[in-house]
Amino acid sequence: MRSSVSHARSIAVLTGAGVSAESGIPTFRSNGGLWQQYRFEDLATPEAFQRDPKFVWTWYEERRRSIAKAQPNAGHLALAEMERRAKRFTLITQNVDGLHDRAGSKNVIKLHGDIWVLRCLRCRREEVNREELQSLPPYCDCGGMLRPGVVWFGEALPEGAMERATEAVRHAGVFIVAGTSAQVYPAAGLIPLAIRNRATVIEINPEETDFSADVTYALRGTSAEMLPQLLGDGS
Ligand code: OAD
Repeated sequence: MRSSVSHARSIAVLTGAGVSAESGIPTFRSNGGLWQQYRFEDLATPEAFQRDPKFVWTWYEERRRSIAKAQPNAGHLALAEMERRAKRFTLITQNVDGLHDRAGSKNVIKLHGDIWVLRCLRCRREEVNREELQSLPPYCDCGGMLRPGVVWFGEALPEGAMERATEAVRHAGVFIVAGTSAQVYPAAGLIPLAIRNRATVIEINPEETDFSADVTYALRGTSAEMLPQLLGDGS
C-alpha cells in the first residue's frame, strides 16, 4: 500500500473535518460535532444570514478565532510532504480552516470555500482577512455587507471547483480519502468515481463510512497517525 503511494504517477486526496480534529477543531457529525450542538439551518444557510447576519457572523468569528490559535497537525504536514514528492498531486478539501495552506500544501481545491475570505454581497469583491473583525457584520469599502466566503447549505460550489476535482480524480492512480463522513454531496461522489475508475482508494477514518466496504484499503485510525505512515519513511 505504501508503495502504491510512493510509486503513484498521480495522487488525489479528499479531506474532511476529521483531518483537523487533532488540531482541536471540532468536526460536524462526530460526537460533540458542530451539527450536534447547533442547527445548521440557523447558521449555515443564506436564509439564516439574511435573517440575522450579526448572529451568523458572531458564530463564524468565534470559529475564526479558535482556528487562528490551532496548528496544522502531522496529517496536514504529511500531505504537504506527499505533494512535494509526487509527480502529480491534487488536494481536494471540504475544510474551510486553511490548515492545509498553513502546512505547506500548494495545489488545493477548496470545495466549500475558505473561512478567511470575506465576500461583498454588493460588488462581489473578495478579500482575505485574518484579522479579528472589529464590528459585526463587517462592511466593504463600497458600502455592501461582507459575508463569510464559505459555501452554505443550498448554495453552489465555487465556480469550476467540482470540475477541477473531478478531473484530478479521473487521473489519479491513488485516491486517499481522509477524515470525512462522506455524507455531503457532490464532494462524496468523488469516492465512487475513483472506485469506478479503478484507482487504489485508501480511506482513513476511525469510523466506518458508507464507502468503507468498497475501497481498496480502509484504515481504521486517525489522520495524524495514518497519513505520515503512508509516506513510508516514518517521517
Ligand atoms: P463530518 O463531521 O461529517 O465527518 C468527520 C469525519 O471525520 C467522521 O467520519 C469521523 O469519523 C472522522 N474523524 C474524526 N476524527 C478523525 C481523525 N482524527 N482522523 C480522521 N478522521 C476522523 O465532516 P465532513 O465529512 O468534512 O460543509 O463534513 C462535510 C461537510 O459537512 C463540511 O464541509 C461542512 C459540513 O456541513 C459545509 O459547511 C458546506
